[in-house]
Amino acid sequence: MSEPKNIVELQNRRLLMKFLAGSPLLSLGLPMCTPVASKNEEQNDDGIIGSPSEANNVFDFQLAAQSILPPAHYGYLATGVLDDRTLLENEKAFARIKLKMRRLIDGSDIDTSVELLGETWPSPIIVCPVGSQKAFHPLGEIATAKAAKAENHLQMLSTVATTSVEDVTKAREAPIWYQLYPTKYWDDTLSIVKRAEAAGCPALVLTVDMDYADKRETLNKMMALDERMCKSCHGNGTPADHARNKPMINSLSKQYGHHPGLTWDFVKKLQESTNMKLILKGIVSGLDAAQAVDYGVDGLVVSNHGGRATESGRATIDCLPEVVKAVDGQIPVILDSGIRRGGDIFKALAMGATAVGIGRPYIWGLGAFGQEGVETVLRILKAEFELVMQQTGVKSISEIGPEHLV
Ligand SMILES: Cc1cc2nc3c(=O)[nH]c(=O)nc-3n(C[C@H](O)[C@H](O)[C@H](O)COP(=O)(O)O)c2cc1C
Repeated sequence: MSEPKNIVELQNRRLLMKFLAGSPLLSLGLPMCTPVASKNEEQNDDGIIGSPSEANNVFDFQLAAQSILPPAHYGYLATGVLDDRTLLENEKAFARIKLKMRRLIDGSDIDTSVELLGETWPSPIIVCPVGSQKAFHPLGEIATAKAAKAENHLQMLSTVATTSVEDVTKAREAPIWYQLYPTKYWDDTLSIVKRAEAAGCPALVLTVDMDYADKRETLNKMMALDERMCKSCHGNGTPADHARNKPMINSLSKQYGHHPGLTWDFVKKLQESTNMKLILKGIVSGLDAAQAVDYGVDGLVVSNHGGRATESGRATIDCLPEVVKAVDGQIPVILDSGIRRGGDIFKALAMGATAVGIGRPYIWGLGAFGQEGVETVLRILKAEFELVMQQTGVKSISEIGPEHLV
């Protein structure tokens, strides 16, 4: 092997070696690229947790997932685009916002419930759509659904999920929101929409930040480190191969591919074709937010796809104020990208978000420990959030406002 060119490569090689050394797939002689089921307690070394109960915070799950997932799969999860600047900025921007603590206020009885589109949820934390979850754990989206059910979190399911909307709704035992990546063929797009509607989804989340290609360099670097027989799962990388493990797109009449160049006309067409509420995910400017309100959209997700769509360099928490201002309380505004601590949730709500979404943190939990990992990640974030509510002297989410920030 040649000398590693940089620190990322060095770190990744170490992880790869460690992964290969401990991989039960190797000893079974299986040349597959699927992940192993979960970490077990004996793997507890290098500060990597061996069970969810050992975790202090969500980052413990990141390390655990990184230590067990195939490098290419971890690369798919970890990657941003280009220099990963937007990805990093999402987290850094939260750290720049300071909290104003209050003293001598009884915090023994606090209420974290939130209302979204007429429904009340016990927590403002939403499980965001993440594609291909069986790349992280054999039970994929089913494990996530069961974990979301445990404490009744709202779950959004990706179009490129490895489990169908029917099966996930069944596992969740409640309606889920369906995330749509439209194809360029309207009939196929409509068939996906109707399938989500028939499964009982009350809301359709149209993702609007991924209609062009993305340049995922961290993923490319980590794929190059993966010496597994990835073709045994992925084939030769053609669009047909891309769709084959994805039950929402593998039976469409034409080859699946993202719709390039979505416009507001498409939003209108979608609204006229479904009775589900329509949410736009990926809005990061006040101008677009105002347009969405004019079009009668039912809600927005201020998101930059966790820094994996466009390299704006701008964190979503920095985009939130202009969106909140433009929306002026007319529709709910959900924020995702970079939420890693309960304090981040509090800051987003204080700046006007109705609720927040998480992506990578729960997938770290899924990759490391399946359903139990996802449940623990959600529990840790909620507990941290409750603590900040107590420390800032608020009893309910409606009391959280900009006066709690410096
Ligand atoms: C591996 C991965 C796959 C994703 N897949 C989708 C998807 O299929 N549809 C979508 O709208 N967003 C997708 N996202 C974006 C998430 O829904 C969410 O916006 C983002 O992860 C939030 O940022 P965070 O990871 O920093 O929490 C994906 C994110 C990751 C990390």
